[in-house]
Amino acid sequence: MRIELTWTSLAVPAADFLAGRAVVAIDALRATSTIVTALANGAERIVPKRSVEEARAEAASRPGSILSGERFGLKVDRFDLGNSPLEYTPGAVAGKTIVMTTTNGTQALAASAGADEILCGALLNARAVASHLRASGRERTLIVCAGTDGEFSLDDAVTAGAIIDRIAPVPDVDSLSDSALAALILFRSLESDLHSAFLSSTHGRRLLEIGLGNDVGYCASVDTHDVVPVLAGDAIVPIDSPVATRHD
Ligand code: MLT
Repeated sequence: MRIELTWTSLAVPAADFLAGRAVVAIDALRATSTIVTALANGAERIVPKRSVEEARAEAASRPGSILSGERFGLKVDRFDLGNSPLEYTPGAVAGKTIVMTTTNGTQALAASAGADEILCGALLNARAVASHLRASGRERTLIVCAGTDGEFSLDDAVTAGAIIDRIAPVPDVDSLSDSALAALILFRSLESDLHSAFLSSTHGRRLLEIGLGNDVGYCASVDTHDVVPVLAGDAIVPIDSPVATRHD
């Protein structure tokens, strides 16, 4: 499998490049970690939206749904939940539709439109995503790191490296773009203390500053979840859910 990578969602190529590829969208702190957790805890689907206004309108058209997300890391005024994975307990989300908007994570998903398959990756489900990609026999995968406000994000890059490590423990370097190889090298140099690596990232420090340090520790855990979220139509569902539409 050829693996390529973009450091931010602003660098995602046009839809004609994405056709024929699987995309793994990563916003490790915290959107994709929250999506993984919500689905693992029984949420039925997550509808990602780019803006607060779009999210409000979507939630209004889906009675009983949960409106969630953040701006500046904090829950949006009059939203039901913020973007802390620790809020998405089974009691809060089981059986629910969640409409979510976040600053960078849901933008990365939108930027990936046109790919054959769009998955959500986090450290939490790195092995599960890698196993799915290997089993599906995909020839080309693009990892889309969301980044933070258009900039490289250490937590996303390390997470990309973890997924690549699990796809190809002994990689054939010809199968990796330079950016994918760099992510792998970064992960391997930091894997003995991912918590510290996440805490030293710009967004990790910001979360610590606003009292959300527990989220950083949680999101820095590796291979704790088996769920592979996939975008099916307008909603993200577990890949083994009956409503997950596969394009391959
Ligand atoms: C984002 O999408 O930018 C993030 O997930 C921000 C956060 O809530 O930590």
